[in-house]
Amino acid sequence: MTLFKKLMDKINGDFREKDIISLDQFTQKDIKILFSQVPKMRTIALKAMPSKIIAGKIVVILFYEPSSRTFGSFSTAIKQIGGQTVEILNPQQFSSVVKGETFEDTIRVFEAYSDAIILRHPERGTAAAASDAAKCVPIINAGDGVGEHPTQALLDLYTIYEKFKRLDNLNVLVAGDMLNGRTVHSLTRGLALYPKNTVYLLSPDDLRLSRKDYSNFIGRGVKLVEINSENDIPKNAHVWYWTRVQKERFKNIKDYEKLKNKFVVSQKFLEKYAGKNTILMHPLPRVGEILTEVDNDPRAVYLRSQIRNGLYVRMALLALVLER
Ligand code: NCD
Repeated sequence: MTLFKKLMDKINGDFREKDIISLDQFTQKDIKILFSQVPKMRTIALKAMPSKIIAGKIVVILFYEPSSRTFGSFSTAIKQIGGQTVEILNPQQFSSVVKGETFEDTIRVFEAYSDAIILRHPERGTAAAASDAAKCVPIINAGDGVGEHPTQALLDLYTIYEKFKRLDNLNVLVAGDMLNGRTVHSLTRGLALYPKNTVYLLSPDDLRLSRKDYSNFIGRGVKLVEINSENDIPKNAHVWYWTRVQKERFKNIKDYEKLKNKFVVSQKFLEKYAGKNTILMHPLPRVGEILTEVDNDPRAVYLRSQIRNGLYVRMALLALVLER
């Protein structure tokens, strides 16, 4: 167990004991360091090679929101590199949160048992708040409400890099819920780190980026093009990144029903608007916005490399943060 004060903020080439809260902490160089570790992690996972990279370390996975991939891949990643997990799912129901314990106290308690805390929470800013509360261990943001989902963006960037061997000069179409989609918010930050990327944002007007996020992103130099019709999809985009409309963020279910599945990828839609080399990504879960008939198309990577890269990239990240 760690007893020293953790380091915060920018990665700056050194991941050890750092919180991972936002893509804003990363530079191109940091991402390169992370990606350089991924092939080794893939070998460990695929060959079932015993690995002791973080042997003796215990990681708490504290998830206030449902999850399949993020939870499953983090839990697997920790074990693949020799660590152990304490998994607290739904603490609102199964921990002292029920009795009224504050968020900060909960974090302070779990840091006393562990070497890192992986946190998912429905409110934006909670990963940063946890980082303030925790005195000794790194916090890894596994999704803070509509805020960010940095490890998802890292695996998304890796998936794009694997295909195109670069992360600059790309046309990326992001579709679905720009307003509430934390994966979109982190991915756009990531793409903005590299020159000459254009991100087309396809959504109904009511689900456009907040104006605050919009001006924040264009201030970084990335070109953003907001569109609301499939007819404006650029020809031969390198990447399509589809997302679901985030039902749980709506106060009124009728508003959700009105806005969901405005843009559905069928085989016909893909043939009409995508290029031959476009890759089709989705952070999942999908709830109707990509039809299953598309799953066997070689361009569809959401159930293939994107999922597997989630495991390898999280292994690499945890190894860099927790390695002795
Ligand atoms: C995403 C999330 O939780 O933000 N899921 C995931 O982690 N792969 C996307 C979503 O729920 O729509």
